[in-house]
Amino acid sequence: MTVDLKLNVSDVKVIQEELLNWYQIHKRDLPWRKNRDPYRVWVSEIMLQQTRVDTVIPYYERFMKQFPTLQDLAQAPEEKVLKAWEGLGYYSRARNLHTAVKEVAEKYNGKVPDDPKKISKLKGIGPYTAGAILSIAYNRKSPAVDGNVMRVFARLFALKDDIALAATRKKMEAIAEQIIPVDSPGDFNQSLMELGATICTPIGPQCLFCPVHAVCNAYKQGIQEELPYKKRAKPPQKVSVLFLGVTCGNQFLIEKRAERGLLKGMWSLPTLENMKEDQAETDLLPICKEWGFLIRDMRKIGNLEHIFSHRHWKITLITIDLQEKPRDFSSNWKWIRQDQIKEFAFPTAYRKAIDMLF
Ligand code: ADE
Repeated sequence: MTVDLKLNVSDVKVIQEELLNWYQIHKRDLPWRKNRDPYRVWVSEIMLQQTRVDTVIPYYERFMKQFPTLQDLAQAPEEKVLKAWEGLGYYSRARNLHTAVKEVAEKYNGKVPDDPKKISKLKGIGPYTAGAILSIAYNRKSPAVDGNVMRVFARLFALKDDIALAATRKKMEAIAEQIIPVDSPGDFNQSLMELGATICTPIGPQCLFCPVHAVCNAYKQGIQEELPYKKRAKPPQKVSVLFLGVTCGNQFLIEKRAERGLLKGMWSLPTLENMKEDQAETDLLPICKEWGFLIRDMRKIGNLEHIFSHRHWKITLITIDLQEKPRDFSSNWKWIRQDQIKEFAFPTAYRKAIDMLF
């Protein structure tokens, strides 16, 4: 793609030199920066999607202890991988990473491809992640434009495009192609991310500490706080949900969620979506009857909320104690002992509910 934006050659040189110098001095000592092992870079970039650095660090350290090499991860059962990811959210990232790592182990003899076409075909690797791995691990001149980088570019070049649009990302990638220096693309991409994370922050950018403020067009015009422009996203849709904590003696009922949709394939409590707590008698009881539940006791424990990117769950947690286990039951159900609960990976909404139960 060509960009209509005319980049001033001397400004580009200043940006390259100043950012690289600043990065060498100010870069944070982060665990994925210990070396350039493509597998380590890959895991870090997947964890860092939609998740803050501070949150990622302990997960990353534990994950790397548990799966130090690509082969270790490829050979691990999915349950173990999900357990290591528990609480980090967006669990498809873990499943896709695991699938892709197995493919690399089988097809590429365990070596992460350094070819843009091949790496982009792996599950869960979009243009950003491909660019990050290729530039950081293989020093290839490849754009890695995430939210931080878009904000930096929007301000540096005073771009008023809506950063939620795919066309804007393409435009930013074309700009990156023009300014990434051939001799240090990995460090340069990371310097942009680092600037966005520490100086060129969404609110209250610290322009006086910025190594490139002298060539920043937003700063010159005093509009840095107004950029980047982003059209407001729709708020997540509110849905009423019942979580059921079903016990029978010391047995506890868990459910594997459907392989499609929200939290696909994750362990959960039996869940009834689009059901409010005042529907318990009219709608929940007939369902329990259908399931063959002989109820000893049923009660409301409390309410919780959980917000995903597109859904806002208003949750009511209800316990149901059974006289005996029903004879037939859904293939997605599993009875476990209460002391086994910690062995399973539950998404945060369910983990919070379970903590209210025991
Ligand atoms: N965010 C995404 N990738 C990153 C990286 N490599 N370092 C710091 N923050 C990041």
